[in-house]
Amino acid sequence: MCGIVGYIGKNEAKDYLLDGLETLEYRGYDSAGIAVLNKEKISTAKTVGRVEHLRKEEAERPVHGSVGIGHTRWATHGGVLERNTHPHHDKSKEFYVVHNGIIENYEEIKEFLSKQGYEFYSDTDTEVVPNLVHFHYQKTGNVLSAFQAAVQTLRGAYALVLLSSHDSENLYAAKLSSPLALGVGKDELFIGSDALPVAGHTQDVVFLEDGEIAVVNTEGYRIVDITTKKSIERATEVIEIDSGDGDLGDFPDFMSKEIHETPATVRSAMLGRLRADEQIVKLGGLELVEDQLQFIDRIIIIACGTSYYAGMVGEYLLEEIAGIPVEVQQASEFRYRQEPLSRSTAVLVVSQSGETADSIAALKKLEGSGILKLGIVNAPGSTLARMTDAGVYCHAGPEKAVASTKAFVAQVTVFVLIALKLAKNYPKFSEVVKALNVIPQQIEEVLKLEKDIAKIAKEYAHHNDFLYIGRRYAYPVAMEGALKIKEISYIHAEGFAGGEMKHGPLALIDESFPTFAIALSNDMDEKSFSNMQEIHARNGKIVTLVDDKNSPSAKLAQDIIVIPKTIEPLQPLLSSVATYLFAYHAAKELGRDIDKPRNLAKSVTVE
Ligand code: F6R
Repeated sequence: MCGIVGYIGKNEAKDYLLDGLETLEYRGYDSAGIAVLNKEKISTAKTVGRVEHLRKEEAERPVHGSVGIGHTRWATHGGVLERNTHPHHDKSKEFYVVHNGIIENYEEIKEFLSKQGYEFYSDTDTEVVPNLVHFHYQKTGNVLSAFQAAVQTLRGAYALVLLSSHDSENLYAAKLSSPLALGVGKDELFIGSDALPVAGHTQDVVFLEDGEIAVVNTEGYRIVDITTKKSIERATEVIEIDSGDGDLGDFPDFMSKEIHETPATVRSAMLGRLRADEQIVKLGGLELVEDQLQFIDRIIIIACGTSYYAGMVGEYLLEEIAGIPVEVQQASEFRYRQEPLSRSTAVLVVSQSGETADSIAALKKLEGSGILKLGIVNAPGSTLARMTDAGVYCHAGPEKAVASTKAFVAQVTVFVLIALKLAKNYPKFSEVVKALNVIPQQIEEVLKLEKDIAKIAKEYAHHNDFLYIGRRYAYPVAMEGALKIKEISYIHAEGFAGGEMKHGPLALIDESFPTFAIALSNDMDEKSFSNMQEIHARNGKIVTLVDDKNSPSAKLAQDIIVIPKTIEPLQPLLSSVATYLFAYHAAKELGRDIDKPRNLAKSVTVE
């Protein structure tokens, strides 16, 4: 989950390194550091905390040089301390390494090196790597072969970049199960743990594959297989990545900005895809596999977190509109399940970042199986986008706040489009198309409720717990609403299907345990009302999200939020935005760091 950068060229390395780390801060923001080589001497700047602190630190003790590496950390091994901050070096400070991933056999390696007289200063798994390189370098005097030998010993997952005082002409990179992109500029080369930091400098990018080492310099790159040491030819590809509008404008933080971008997100996900007048859905990304899709009789959706909840909405949509049996699985479970799959099953991965380790591993498991791999991905050029046979981009633009909001809305919109595309004789096709077209305006109406929602959220923010309930399409939104409030406000929250209340959760309810009930108009009205009566009878406070202020459910609630009416399959596009505003303002009331909540990172690139 850490971010990695590297630079070799004619300019000050620190400029790219610091900017690149800022771009990558969504991957982790516990601590950050850079190491820069100048005339055989490597200088470092490191700090606990954000990249902005690192900038200050570097400004006070500047590092100069045109070759360097950098890292922003999400702690796995060892606390958030300066001694655990990357880049890590060997005992004689000749080799510096930045690492993303986990070295599973680091204890074994540490024991071996300790016996050879090596000492360690950090609690990290990474520190064994520069020492192992040093160990091999003593024998060969060659940085590449020392790096190769070291990397061959490692088990686990890694993206590594090595800087050595013995070689000012090259940087060395290696990859196994953790992405690494090389951006080729004119007389300079940029490294990133994804293409985002590179994107602002060059569009010519090459991605390393598992089991490869790259030697990079001002003239370009050479890729070799870690085991066979044979050279691998790979041309650059042109990547068009919007590195994101870093400007907050009038918004206080990215989460608020991104919630307010949801109407535009829906428009952008539909743009050129939904020809409302002709009742046609055109999804270019699926055209290649259109014939194969005819034979698909089951879809398994795999994803994590918010994308998983979007997948749950997708399940209802695909079943109702396209009539295809669907199952949603968490990627972390799917990857280890012994599930027999037939060739008529397609697996559809959903991911904002396209770099989530569990989702990548889940797709890897399917390699060589002949199973059709589809994707709904937001980040163009990401690992998952490249691993799938076909897919549909979300076009939501970069999402910077750790808590996902606009990506969920985009994913659900894309699910609606895919469901319509795969629909055979769905009788309400035009009704859905018509309703979808006005969703952006309706989300704008929800956003206008922000002040009212904020007032309610502030009242409830000081509770320790929250229950979120909903039925059918509102059930995944209840789960997502609960996830959002817990991740940004740290209020304990659980999402349940309304029908499950009597099977356990009802025991929690008393005057101090409020419920956020999603009770929008549909043929489940009476059932939702019964759930609320049960809560009401136990003195539970209720905030109800309704689309009719006179509905019975509204009458039982302490507080109501009234959003516009739409057809049930599209309700998650409106109700999710209301839950986002609620969570946002509860977190704001509690003074939380909204864009960078504690213990989390935007992109979960380790298991
Ligand atoms: C929650 C959140 C996470 C992600 C999850 C999957 O707000 O952001 O739960 O949804 O880590 O990430 P992606 O979609 O990038 O695969």
